[in-house]
Amino acid sequence: MPPVHVARRIAGVEYAIRDIVAAGKRLEATGRQVTYLNIGDPNKFDFAPPPHVMEAFARAARDTKFTSYAPSEGIPALREAIAAREKVKVDDVLVTAAMSEGILACFASMLDAGDDVLLPSPCYPLYQALANLFEAHPALYRCDPRTWEPDLDHVRSLVTPRTRCLVVIDPNNPTGVVYSETTLKGLVEIARWAKIPIFLDQAYDRLTFAPRGAGLPACAGAGGDARPASGASVPPAPGQAGRLPHQGPDLMALRGDVPVIVGYSMSKVFIFPGARCGYLAFHGKELEGVRDGAARLGRARLCSNHPIQQAFLAGLTGPMDFLPGVIAKLRERAALTTKRLNAIPGLSCVAPQAAFYAFPKIEKSAWKDDQAFVLDLLEATGILTVHGAGFSSALDGPYFRIVFLLPTAELETAYDAMGKFMRERVG
Ligand SMILES: Cc1ncc(COP(=O)(O)O)c(C=O)c1O
Repeated sequence: MPPVHVARRIAGVEYAIRDIVAAGKRLEATGRQVTYLNIGDPNKFDFAPPPHVMEAFARAARDTKFTSYAPSEGIPALREAIAAREKVKVDDVLVTAAMSEGILACFASMLDAGDDVLLPSPCYPLYQALANLFEAHPALYRCDPRTWEPDLDHVRSLVTPRTRCLVVIDPNNPTGVVYSETTLKGLVEIARWAKIPIFLDQAYDRLTFAPRGAGLPACAGAGGDARPASGASVPPAPGQAGRLPHQGPDLMALRGDVPVIVGYSMSKVFIFPGARCGYLAFHGKELEGVRDGAARLGRARLCSNHPIQQAFLAGLTGPMDFLPGVIAKLRERAALTTKRLNAIPGLSCVAPQAAFYAFPKIEKSAWKDDQAFVLDLLEATGILTVHGAGFSSALDGPYFRIVFLLPTAELETAYDAMGKFMRERVG
């Protein structure tokens, strides 16, 4: 029998962050130690979900009330807590198997073959993978490599009659920046003008350690002034699961009448990516059809994990006093990362303001492309990162993404090794 037919559309589904792991495993199989700085999973380092969330999960796991299927849209108490947080009706909330399923449900409900969806360049790779899966066109809008703020003129220039949605990831993965208020206003204005909704990815909503608009290049030669890498951060009020710990309004405060779908997750803020639990909140009556489409898919897939929804409820309604400690560690590691990477010959890096990623540029390249760089770095140092092309095919040069979740002493060791590697390769 010949090999079984493979659907063409699956060829466009790539996820560099995990695809690259095979290279790390191959090296490990030869007896070498690998430091996995490719994936943003805080639980692999010195972070853990807050105890009250773990406790709620443990209680639910022992209770046969939660071994049944859950309602497809999510358990009522959780939907109510989300609706209160988002200031929408309960009907406008869907609980999903983390944000990944939420993005899939929205794209399935919004995109026909041949439609356009506006995505940042660089972009978290799932968006491009799903656009490809639905045979839509990922229209990559440029972000200024000196600040990683979206280039509003370029966003506008990409709008066509078939543009269905503008995806905004704020705070951003892979660049770690938080968009300025001016940028957010500009994005809202474009969505209003183009009569399209915004999908707002808030995976890193509260993991911010610098004020909005502090995103400036710290790198020599990149053409910007060098303001401090991190500014004042406002810790979240204990007992409140409100929206933003950082300064300045977020996109939701600026959206006016523009319909917005918020995607959210337990994975990063509650440090529980294995939970696979998140939500979609639909802001604006124009989204009813899309919401109903996503809900239809939700019913067809039955439900998301039942016991974990109790843990998410505990997280959203419980104390947030674990966050300042998390943010303090991230701030320190981000500052170290910015300082160390910018001191390595041939590398430059915009200071991250949120999350746990930096996206340095390889200014002096001895490699055919950034994937060759990543593989050479892995072979020479045992450090696994992700090539920039895995986040965008439209970058202005070679880049890579590094996760800075390691404790500072180990991060120093990793950056020592990277410095030695670059000196050997590019002098
Ligand atoms: C920006 C962004 N959006 C969405 C996701 C998906 O997260 P999850 O499915 O774990 O909620 C991630 C995961 O890293 C992410 O970085």
